[in-house]
Amino acid sequence: KKVVLAYSGGLDTSVIVRWLQETYNCEVVTFTADLGQGEEVEPARAKAEALGVKEIYIDDLREEFVRDFVFPMFRANTIYEGEYLLGTSIARPLIAKRLIEIANETGADAISHGATGKGNDQVRFELGAYALKPGVAVIAPWREWDLTSRETLMAYCEEHNIPVDFSGGKKKSPYSMDANLLHISYEGGVLEEPWAEAEEDMWRWTVAPEQAPDEPTYIELTYVNGDITAINGEVLSPATVLENLNKIGGANGIGRLDIVENRFVGMKARGCYETPGGTIMMKAHRAIESITLDREAAHLKDELMPRYAKLIYNGFWWSEERKMLQQMIDYSQRYVNGDVRLKLYKGNVIVVGRRSDDSLFDESIATFEDDAGSYNQKDAEGFIKLNALRMRIASSKGRNLLED
Ligand code: ARG
Ligand code: SIN
Repeated sequence: KKVVLAYSGGLDTSVIVRWLQETYNCEVVTFTADLGQGEEVEPARAKAEALGVKEIYIDDLREEFVRDFVFPMFRANTIYEGEYLLGTSIARPLIAKRLIEIANETGADAISHGATGKGNDQVRFELGAYALKPGVAVIAPWREWDLTSRETLMAYCEEHNIPVDFSGGKKKSPYSMDANLLHISYEGGVLEEPWAEAEEDMWRWTVAPEQAPDEPTYIELTYVNGDITAINGEVLSPATVLENLNKIGGANGIGRLDIVENRFVGMKARGCYETPGGTIMMKAHRAIESITLDREAAHLKDELMPRYAKLIYNGFWWSEERKMLQQMIDYSQRYVNGDVRLKLYKGNVIVVGRRSDDSLFDESIATFEDDAGSYNQKDAEGFIKLNALRMRIASSKGRNLLED
């Protein structure tokens, strides 16, 4: 028996390694991904070795993550429940995919993860795993073991010789956190009281808007088929784009969010997020679409977007319906090319300019000045009258449209 574990190198997943070895008497393969969480992943190797792990996978997935997951999602302007940019949700299918690839390479028949039985992440990991390897076995220790308090977990470490400084010697964060190139999230601890404002020192990636520079920062983003390819004229890889936007956004206090969201399992949960680069990308993408997309195409995208967001939030990335929507979204982006100019100022992303060789904006038609006959204002009379026809008939038949 062999199981591939999504291993962060932290204390909790280190306990899981030992627990799997003892409880299931199985060989544990660890998989640690660099998704741009901002922490070294290499230290996970020595820790896994110390736990007797023989097959250790450490992968840099940053480019794949942004190119094949984050960018495709942003083409749809995806937002869950009007607020959440899905920073954690969008990383899970990639981790599930790698877990299964590694299971196939190493001949493992099971996967395991450190998500609890109360959250979304268990669903996302497991839906992904079952989709890509229907017969896979899943071991979710948090749903099985009784190490439910800090004390019992520490006692387990003591008994099983797991060095407690596996958390890197740093003080254990009072929050449940998750980070990658798109965001960093905080849940639990004092945040469990939805009325209590988060402490200023919780935030790690952004300065407080009131501490941000008094001078605005201007940036120019270049789009090709709905994806950013350059910042201020400098061509960059997808991961580098996001990394740079995180820095610029963070320095200007952009992308803080504090919400109560509906988890797939049914409960409400309070979460705080920092998504500086993503917040910039969202605004800029809408700006470039505003001049390059047909109105009805844009509106159709907007109608379907909440469906698409929910699919990703709930873990259905590899489903038929998500891929159908993606085809449509990607098709819509073939003219989404050009530049957007933005002003970043104390937590705000302000669009100040947009231009495109594929622009549908026609100044000669839109102008308030003389349009030299390109638009006949008299045409509007019949247009309005026929649109009003239904209401005029109802009114003339004695219906009171004011009161009904
Ligand atoms: N609530 C967010 C989501 O469901 C963030 C989850 C954070 N996960 C974590 N393991 N800390 O996408
Ligand atoms: C967890 O339960 O492991 C984190 C929160 C979530 O998955 O929603």
